Amino acid sequence: MKNYFYNILLATLRILPPEIASKISLFFLKAYFKVLNRQDSNSFRYSGTQNVKFKHLNFNNPLGVAAGLDKEGNYFPALASLGFSFVEVGTFTPKKQKGNEYPRIKRNIQEKSLINRLGFNNPGIISGVENIKKNKRNFSGVLGVSIGKNKTTSLDRAFEDYLYCLKACYEVSDYIAVNISSPNTIGLRDLTKETYFSDLMDEIKKEYEILSSKSKVKVPLILKLSPDEDDENTKYLVEKSLESNFSGFIVSNTTKGEYMGMQGGLSGKLLKEKSLTMLKKVNSYLDKESLLISSGGISSKEDIEERMDNGAKLIQIYTSFVFEGPPVVDKLLN
Ligand SMILES: Cc1cc2nc3c(=O)[nH]c(=O)nc-3n(C[C@H](O)[C@H](O)[C@H](O)COP(=O)(O)O)c2cc1C
Repeated sequence: MKNYFYNILLATLRILPPEIASKISLFFLKAYFKVLNRQDSNSFRYSGTQNVKFKHLNFNNPLGVAAGLDKEGNYFPALASLGFSFVEVGTFTPKKQKGNEYPRIKRNIQEKSLINRLGFNNPGIISGVENIKKNKRNFSGVLGVSIGKNKTTSLDRAFEDYLYCLKACYEVSDYIAVNISSPNTIGLRDLTKETYFSDLMDEIKKEYEILSSKSKVKVPLILKLSPDEDDENTKYLVEKSLESNFSGFIVSNTTKGEYMGMQGGLSGKLLKEKSLTMLKKVNSYLDKESLLISSGGISSKEDIEERMDNGAKLIQIYTSFVFEGPPVVDKLLN
C-alpha cells in the first residue's frame, strides 16, 4: 500500500521539471519530519551487522546520500530519518552562487539516468554552516560537507577557496569532501593536473595540520574523483592525496555526457560501469586503512555487493533515490 502511494507520488512529480520536483519533495519531506518530530534517525533500524566504523566515526549502515541533493544544509536530518546513516551536504563554495541558467537537469527515464549542468548553485559556505548548526540538533548520523571553488575564481587561486571553506566548515563536519571533479564548473577538473593539484594538496595539508591541532578531533579529508580520469593520473592523485592527510576517496562523481542537447554530468544507470571501473582502479592503489565510498549508478543490493567486493566500505546514492523515492532505502538495506 505504501509503495503504491509512493508510485503515484513519483509519477505526479515526474510531470514537473526535475528541479521543481526536487524542491517540492524536500520541502514536504522536511515538513513531515517536523510534524512527526522524528528526532531519531531511522538508520538505527538498519544497524547491527551492517555497522561500519572508520576512525572515530560510526555509520549505522553503509548507505548515504551523495552530495548535491541537500545543497543548503537544510534537509539532512529529514533525509537521514528515511534510514540513511550519512548525508553529504553541499557542494559549498566561499561565495553564494546561482549556478548555470535553466534548464539544467533532464531525466532520461528509460535509462534511469539524469544529466545535470547545475554549476554549484549554493548559498555560500558561511550560510551553509549556519544552516548545518541549526539543523544538526535533529541529526544523529554522520555529516559530510562537500567543498568546491567559485566559478569566478581562477585556477591559480583555487586553493584559497578550498582553504576558506575548509576553515569555515571544519568544526561542524564529520568528514570533509574535497570536490575537484564536478564537470559543470569550467576548468574545475583541470585542478587534477599536477601543476595545480600538487599546490592544492600542499596548501590543504598545511591548513589541515593547523586546524586539527587546535581541534579535539581530526576530521577525515576525502577526495571526490571523476570517473573520466586516466590511469596514470588517477594513481598520481591517490598517492599525492594520501601523502597530504587525505584518508579516503569517493568514487565517483558524474561522467561528462550529453542528452537531448544538454551537456553536463551523467548520473544513474548510464554511469554505473564507468564508476565501477574507476572504483576497481582506485582500490588497486590503496591500503586497507583508507576509506572508499562508492557512488555512481547504484540501485540494487547486487550493485552494493559488487561495490563492496571491490573495496567500497560505504555507498552513496542520488539518482536511484530520485527515481524510486524513499522505498529504495528499504530495498537496498533490508
Ligand atoms: C542534480 C545533481 C547534482 C549534483 N551535485 C553535486 C554536487 O554539488 N557535488 C558533488 O560532489 N556531486 C554532485 N552530484 C553528483 C552526485 O553526488 C553523485 O556522485 C553522482 O550523481 C553519482 O551517483 P548516482 O548515480 O547515484 O546519482 C550531483 C548529481 C546530480 C544528479
